Amino acid sequence: MFRNVFGAHPDGIWAAPGRVNLIGEHTDYNDGLALPIAIPQTTLLAARRRDDGQLRLHSAQGDGRVVDLAVAELTPGVVTSWAAYPAGVVWALGEAGHRIGGADLHFDSMVPTGAGLSSSAALECVVACAYDGLYDLGLSAPELARLAQRAENAFAGVPCGIMDQMASACCTAGAALYLDVRAGVHEQVPFAPEERDLRLLIIDTRVKHDLGDGAYAALRAGCEQASSLLGLAALRDLSPSDLPRAGRMLPAHLLPLVRHIVTENARVTEAVSHLRAGRIAELGPILTAGHASLRDDYRISCAETDLAVETAIGAGALGARITGGGFGGSVIALVDDDAAETVGAAVIAAFRTHGFQAPNLFPVFPAPGARRVERAGWGGVELGP
Ligand code: GLA
Repeated sequence: MFRNVFGAHPDGIWAAPGRVNLIGEHTDYNDGLALPIAIPQTTLLAARRRDDGQLRLHSAQGDGRVVDLAVAELTPGVVTSWAAYPAGVVWALGEAGHRIGGADLHFDSMVPTGAGLSSSAALECVVACAYDGLYDLGLSAPELARLAQRAENAFAGVPCGIMDQMASACCTAGAALYLDVRAGVHEQVPFAPEERDLRLLIIDTRVKHDLGDGAYAALRAGCEQASSLLGLAALRDLSPSDLPRAGRMLPAHLLPLVRHIVTENARVTEAVSHLRAGRIAELGPILTAGHASLRDDYRISCAETDLAVETAIGAGALGARITGGGFGGSVIALVDDDAAETVGAAVIAAFRTHGFQAPNLFPVFPAPGARRVERAGWGGVELGP
């Protein structure tokens, strides 16, 4: 496809994955803790360096047109649509002082969009990773993630935290990524459900969510307001035993937000200690408690995600919860291998009974983060590391 569109061979092919978050939702922009995994579904990018300063973008999922931009003229607000994400990364690299120029980029994504699986982070991180290779920038994976987040915040105008980009850039196969945003720490925590005859199932409700629609920004603003009323740098600074005092100091509508963040950080800590001890099944009740908190306190669930969670648990899942930004998107369920088919069938039947559109179900396992997958040398394709 790259050859058809741009009339030449690419210099290489890169891949960056989507993610699911096991636990630690909406904690990243509160300086807190999260535990995502990268999923096997990636965004692929065939890329070629250009020395005339033009950035040309084409997507297999697009309308067939090539978006043609001058790198020197990239400024927040000038690019709209999907092209803002890749163009934003190129802008962020320039803004950070890296000596970069143009490129021809062809994308092909297997990450479902609007499913809460971070298709936008995959798109950003694959561009950051490809530019790192094309222009020999020597960036570390966390640096790629920070540039990708900068692009999404300042160029695409979405006030997200750093979790998705860290997951897409830094995850490794067979592990979840423990993130402590305040401490700037990221650690690989072994997570291999298949070794315990368990499966992590994604239930994409196909209710599209959109972080740009203002609800996410409003939640973030609510957290910031609460932390400033409490005189804290971030809600991260609160522990569960502080909640009664916080309740006396905060207006009633802010307390549930605070309660979610505080209890969610505690759930991440608990989950990590179970995983480190190889007790994967113990994750189940933590997921379910996380869902109740997102449904009742943070209020980002919806009828479809609640139904998926309740039905999965009723059919034997060890635990389930909505994952990602919320307002639709996907549910994750931890299930015994033996129960996987029953759980899937029950969810599909329940959606049909409620007149909801059929969900998309598939298992995932922890996959590697952004990487180069093929090098130049097209006489015989040489596989990269
Ligand atoms: C979105 C954002 C992340 C994070 C999650 C909620 O995916 O991009 O930064 O805030 O929502 O945990």
